[in-house]
Order: sequence, then structure tokens, then C-alpha cells
Amino acid sequence: MAETGHTQRVFSGIQPSGGLTLGNYLGAIKRFVSMQDGGSETVYCMVDLHAITVWQDPEALRRQTRELAAGFIASGIDPERSVLFNQSQVSAHARLGWIFNCVARMGWMNRMTQWKEKAGKNSENASLGLFAYPSLMAADILAYHATHVPVGEDQKQHLELTRDIATKFNQVYGLDFFPITEPVIEGAATRVMSLRDGLKKMSKSDPSDMSRINLTDSADTIARKIRKAKTDPEPLPGAVDGLANRPEARNLVNIYAALAGISVDATLAQAGGRQFGQFKTALAELAVETLAPITSEMARLMHDPAEIDRIIGQGANKAAAIAEPILDQVHDIVGMIRSRG
Ligand code: AMP
Ligand code: TRP
Repeated sequence: MAETGHTQRVFSGIQPSGGLTLGNYLGAIKRFVSMQDGGSETVYCMVDLHAITVWQDPEALRRQTRELAAGFIASGIDPERSVLFNQSQVSAHARLGWIFNCVARMGWMNRMTQWKEKAGKNSENASLGLFAYPSLMAADILAYHATHVPVGEDQKQHLELTRDIATKFNQVYGLDFFPITEPVIEGAATRVMSLRDGLKKMSKSDPSDMSRINLTDSADTIARKIRKAKTDPEPLPGAVDGLANRPEARNLVNIYAALAGISVDATLAQAGGRQFGQFKTALAELAVETLAPITSEMARLMHDPAEIDRIIGQGANKAAAIAEPILDQVHDIVGMIRSRG
């Protein structure tokens, strides 16, 4: 990871707005685990305040937050080595988010692709929170002075905005206070695509369940979804340039490489020339082998919701211990009186 003037700290977040997909696992969680295991200081967050920028049923939101925590832990996030918590338990996020609402400009927010896609033609009726979403995201990261943020490709623009907010804050107050965060978007699976359409991102909100693999899917369901995944009639190419203009083929090869932890070149060296039927069988086996232990561990953890709540409560205490002193400094910088005993 690149050096910055600030101590290295990793932060990332996932919305508890539905079940976890293979896209979240490969594009985010698997990489969160390797950063933790590589010895970085890691802070991971279930961003429930972000989730409510669109309607969430309260009971479903609680369940999804616990399920996401279970997904993190089952995938290898160790709450003793990483800080794992839900955003709303640490008020620093919302407080810094407000201050950043006063730093960010309307024009910056208007340019966000995710805003345009999510609000669509109905923007008059979208929540104000959905518009301000990226400034809360900048607050998540900067409340910890995080230097590195692992995410999937779709979050790149939000991380550029985070850098813009940090730069503008530093400039207007004449200080080098916030780090200029590095996005970490690496590996074969930074953009896992839908199994039904190689040009669309795999997403928990896609109406077709066949388009995605959920971390809660059974082995049979995973195998069936992969068998039915859209492909083209050609056999697999022997080298990467043979994937040009073959989005579905490219997607399955990327997924295989990311699951196996090998490069796309190495995958094609093994599989080049094979028909998709055969390749899909191997892919389904690999996916089940990787995901089944995670799925069953998630189910086991979900039997004890009180224990999950205890773990993320402790995580929130650790998170607050990092963020609160940073927020105190922010208030001093901005000119807020702090006189409570
Ligand atoms: P979200 O579920 O939108 O909160 O996303 C959580 C994390 O998973 C972010 O880092 C996303 O970039 C990543 N992610 C979501 N969908 C995909 C996908 N289809 N491919 C790769 N990464 C993804
Ligand atoms: N916007 C991210 C997503 O939808 C989730 C998120 C919120 C996040 N805050 C963050 C990711 C801070 C990284 C860092 O995927």
C-alpha cells in the first residue's frame, strides 16, 4: 500500500440493505479479510445510516444488519483483530457527515453516478439523505483518519469525492488535518457482473434472483444458477485478449480466478479450449467449496442474535474511542464551543 503522512488505517463499509452477494464477497469482504490478515489496522462497518436513504422495514433492517455481521465473521473477520460495528452506534459518523454537508458543494453531489441511477427520473421524490449519501460516506472514512479504503469498482467516484472533501476542508481551514485517502480497487473481481447480463453489475437489488449468487444460497441453488448463467457458444479462449467483447465469458473467468485466488491468465492457461458446460461444472464446485463453510457458519451465528449484538456493541466502543477525539479536534477547528463536563 502507498505511503501517506498519516498512520496507515483501513476502513470500509457495506450497507445492510439486503443479503450479501458473491459480488460483495469477492469485491469487498474477501479483500477486507486479507488486509486484516496482512496486519493492517482494520475498521469495518455495517452502514445502517446509509441503508435508510431508501426505505427499510425496521425489523428487516435489524435482521440484515446482524446477518451482515455474521457474514463478515463467517468470512474471516475476527472481531478481536478488526473493529466491527454498525454505523449508527457511533454518533461521530452523523456529526461529521453534517459538517461535510457544509463543505461539499451541490454541484459535486449532482455529478454522482450512483445518485443519478438511484434517484433516476423521480429525483424530486428521493430522500435528501440519498443526495447527501457521499458526504456521510466521506465522514465514515475520515472520522477514523483512514488512509486506505478497499471497495469494488462502483465506489471509485465516491472515494474521489472523499478526497475532494478532505482537500477542501484542509484548504479552507489551512491545515493538513484529514488524510487524502487511497482507494484500494484490486484483483480479478472488483466488478462481478450479473449471471444473466454480463454488462450489468451483480446486485442485491436486481429483481431476478438468478442474476446473483447469495451467500445464503444452498449448494444446489449455486450449482443451478451457474449452470444457467448466460454464456456464448464459443469455447473458452487460451488468453485474456480472447475475452474481448465476451462480457459473460469474461465474468465467469474473473469469478473463477478470484475464487481460486489465481490470475485470469493462469485460469485461461488451465481452462482454454474447454466448452462452457465443463468449465461451469468446475466453477460451481469451486464456488460451493468456498461458500458452503461461510453459509453454514453464518447460519450458526444467526442462532444467537444477542451474541452478535454484543460483538458489534464492543466494536462500536472501540470505534468511538478512535473517532471521538478526532471529532473533538474537528469541532475545535471549525469553531464550535465544547464546554460540557
Ligand atoms: P453495497 O452492497 O452496495 O453496500 O456494496 C458493498 C461493497 O461491495 C462495496 O465495496 C462494493 O463496491 C462491493 N460490491 C458490491 N457489488 C459488487 C459487485 N457486483 N462486484 C464487486 N464488488 C461489489
Ligand atoms: N457506499 C458504499 C456501498 O454502497 C458503502 C459505504 C458507506 C462505504 N460508507 C463507506 C464503503 C465507507 C467504503 C467506505 O458500497
